[in-house]
Amino acid sequence: MLNQTLVLIKPDGLKKSLTGNILTRLSETKLEIIAAKIVRVSKKLAEEHYMHLKQEPFFPELVLYLQGELHQRKKVMAMIYWGEDAIQKVRDIAGATNPEEASSVSIRGQYGRITTKGLYENVVHASANDIEAEREIKLWFQPDEII
Ligand code: TYD
Repeated sequence: MLNQTLVLIKPDGLKKSLTGNILTRLSETKLEIIAAKIVRVSKKLAEEHYMHLKQEPFFPELVLYLQGELHQRKKVMAMIYWGEDAIQKVRDIAGATNPEEASSVSIRGQYGRITTKGLYENVVHASANDIEAEREIKLWFQPDEII
């Protein structure tokens, strides 16, 4: 099925200069990039992005993480990938949420870590399913930014 997925290179990925590496890994999918930009993430945007985790004890730290407050790098790179099974293909290369459980050849398995506070710093975000992808793309992009 053709679909679209939101990919974020999180502040730890930018700080560790992993952008080129992540884009190269994602290019293995042969998907098409239909939008890309650097975004300064407000508290509101971070909270809305992770609204499904609002009740979790790590939520406040997670919001600070996405805002770049933990890495002195207050931005993320946001992209939309489009194509056949885009959501699943990107999730496979990103790897499991917990970087210690992620396959060692996945982006999260290779570059993620768990902080001393227990937060997963897992380098990239990739939409989990169709409904989330649609919601997240609307949150991060204006229609005229998608080509
Ligand atoms: P989630 O949406 O469950 O996973 P994914 O990013 O794989 O779609 O969680 C969002 C982020 O919250 C996740 O990327 C890292 C962080 N997180 C933790 O730090 N600890 C946790 O126990 C979970 C579930 C998530």
